[in-house]
Order: sequence, then structure tokens, then C-alpha cells
Amino acid sequence: MAKPRILLNLFHPTFEQSRGNRALAEEARKLANVTFRNLCQEYPDLKIDVKKEQHLLLEHDLIVFQHPVRWYSGPALLKEWQDQVLQYGFAYPPGVGDKLNGKCWLSAVTTGGPQDAYRSGGRNNFTMSELLRPFQQTATLCGLTWLPPFVVHSVLPVTMGGISDEELGKRAEEYHILLDGFTIG
Ligand SMILES: Cc1cc2nc3c(=O)[nH]c(=O)nc-3n(C[C@H](O)[C@H](O)[C@H](O)COP(=O)(O)O)c2cc1C
Repeated sequence: MAKPRILLNLFHPTFEQSRGNRALAEEARKLANVTFRNLCQEYPDLKIDVKKEQHLLLEHDLIVFQHPVRWYSGPALLKEWQDQVLQYGFAYPPGVGDKLNGKCWLSAVTTGGPQDAYRSGGRNNFTMSELLRPFQQTATLCGLTWLPPFVVHSVLPVTMGGISDEELGKRAEEYHILLDGFTIG
């Protein structure tokens, strides 16, 4: 069976300082069926090549949106990318813009906050599943299947209570295995 084609769209405004997303991206990029794109590097001025982005979407089966959580959402370019690329007649509404129908959406995110903060009554009050709902509904409206998000918590410098290099390495390996094991249908 042919390997699914995976598009990894990374949104990280300060990737040169990244610890978590760098570790995840390095593991994912080892897979031959992953097309890796560093969008903040590609579009530092937010001027997105919409046709190119849409063409890339069409050529892949699984679209991974990888980014650090920023203010309980994603970096600004991710929002801009959604606004510009997921156009009426291309991505939605159902029955009119069906080009992404049947593909899958995976949000792969890192947080500074610990897992325990992401619950009712915790410091951040809501679970990650709840906070990611705008992405989930975007995927659903555009006909993509929403996959369970891949979340790495406590991605801070070790000196500030962040997870150890060993733990981060383990999570990055899990990410690799998850992407490698993805099948269509
Ligand atoms: C502007 C800004 C906003 C942030 N907002 C959140 C947040 O809402 N929740 C959280 O847990 N961490 C937040 N963080 C921490 C980042 O999620 C964390 O630094 C990042 O996931 C680490 O990944 P990296 O090593 O790839 O940069 C924020 C960081 C910045 C700079």
C-alpha cells in the first residue's frame, strides 16, 4: 500500500530559539513521506502565496499544523494562513468548496503550561481539546477529518521547570511513530 502523503506546516515565529518544535520537526522530517514547510520562514511579511499553499494541500492526505500554543491559540501567521488559504469555493462550504474533502487534519502543539493546568478548575480552566475547538470546527467545515491532537506540555527551558531533554526526545519519537503509522481510510 502506498504511503500517505503528509504535509507538515510548521508555524513558529521564533524557530531559531525553539526547543520543543525543533525536536518534533527533526523527528518528523526523518520520514520520507513528509513534506516539511517552515511557514514563518517562508512568509516573514505575512504575504502568503495562496495558490502554492492550496496546491500543496491538494497533493497531500494528512495536513499537520504544528505550532507552539500562543495565547491559547496559534501564532498570528497560522490565523492569516487560514484566512487566506481556506477560501470560499476551495475549502468551503460543503457542496461548493470540496477540494479538501476526505483529507485529515492533525494539530501538533506544544505548551509552556503543564498538563495539570489544562483542566476545569486548573490554572488555564479548559482542556486542550476544548481550546483547540476553533481548529476542529475549521477542519470539519472544510471536510477534513479531525484527528486527536498531539500535545506536548511543559515545553520550557529545563531551568524553568520544563521537561527534560530525555522526555522531550521520547515525545518526539512518539510523534515520529504517530506520523509513520498514519494510514488512509
Ligand atoms: C506570546 C506567547 C504566548 C504564549 N501563550 C501560551 C499559552 O497560552 N499557553 C501556554 O501553555 N504557553 C504559552 N506560551 C509558551 C509557549 O507555548 C512555549 O514557549 C512553546 O510551546 C515552547 O515551544 P518551542 O520550544 O518550540 O518554542 C506562550 C509563549 C509566547 C511567547
